[in-house]
Amino acid sequence: MKKVVLTGVKPTGQPHIGNYLGAMKPALAMAEDPEVQSFLFLADYHSLTHVHDPKKLKEWTLQLTAAWLACGLNPQKTVIYRQSDIPEIFELLWVLSCFTPKGFMNRAHAYKAKVQENQEKGIKDLDKGVNMGLYSYPILMTADILLFSANEVPVGEDQIQHVEFARDIAQKVNHVYGEVFTLPQIVIKKNTKVIPGLDGRKMSKSYNNYIPLFEEPKKLRKLIMKIKTNSLPPEAPKDPEDSILFTLFREFASQEEVQEMEEKYRKGIGWGEAKERLFEVMERELGPKRELYKNYMDNPSLIIKTLEEGAEKARVKASSFMKRIRKKIGITLT
Ligand code: TRP
Repeated sequence: MKKVVLTGVKPTGQPHIGNYLGAMKPALAMAEDPEVQSFLFLADYHSLTHVHDPKKLKEWTLQLTAAWLACGLNPQKTVIYRQSDIPEIFELLWVLSCFTPKGFMNRAHAYKAKVQENQEKGIKDLDKGVNMGLYSYPILMTADILLFSANEVPVGEDQIQHVEFARDIAQKVNHVYGEVFTLPQIVIKKNTKVIPGLDGRKMSKSYNNYIPLFEEPKKLRKLIMKIKTNSLPPEAPKDPEDSILFTLFREFASQEEVQEMEEKYRKGIGWGEAKERLFEVMERELGPKRELYKNYMDNPSLIIKTLEEGAEKARVKASSFMKRIRKKIGITLT
């Protein structure tokens, strides 16, 4: 039996270089492992906890799917689907809710963060802005994971608690009905390197310091020109380890190119030239992907078809598993 590796991505905006280097590239590499059966889904109903603009939800879902496909996700190897296309997830969500102590959810990070924010703002109603979707977010995530008997769930550090919940909830159900669920292992994405944004802080939407993944070459160049540097003159030796430009360059250049660039830094390189070189290597890698991406976005039916085919495959597994669960819990009458 192949190891089942499953992860979800939430459509909440345009993907950027930080997402690409930190999450997409490592996941794509892992999906190539012949010992792995990988599942990747668009957690669109998770987005609904805070994205209430229908046009945006739709657009971001298409964009994120197109981005994964353009970056090399092979739908023949990785089952790619939308969470919303698998009704069994929501049926299982209810079953799991009936085994989740309310106190668990009070401890969930996202909920606690919101309560704390209200507290700090002096708002009396500490639950202000908390809908039940946000509150039970971790149970939906548990359903995503357990329905596919995932052995491993690669997640970023902010999601560890959620997968721990999934393990705890699975154990509670197993305790009552026997071994129904596989306990998922948490795989913390080793790739913890922080991708710096234009200002040197971690590249993030909330800092507005990001480079969109499929920015047009002209704009990409402009953004690169904006990357913060120090005021050393061109001939002064520079420390590559202390340069945002070099950190990004390393991600896109070959080993020889990196070595060569390192020497140039130590000898002295003008920031203008360093930026130009970064643009070149980024464009080399991203240019062809941008074309593929544009082609998908111009033909959304291609994206939709891929998602439908993925959902069909995913549902084979989901519906037979859900049938088993219904039997176990006494819902099936025959
Ligand atoms: N909550 C995850 C995030 O924000 C996305 C997600 C939803 C997920 N369901 C999942 C990740 C199941 C892994 C497994 O990144």
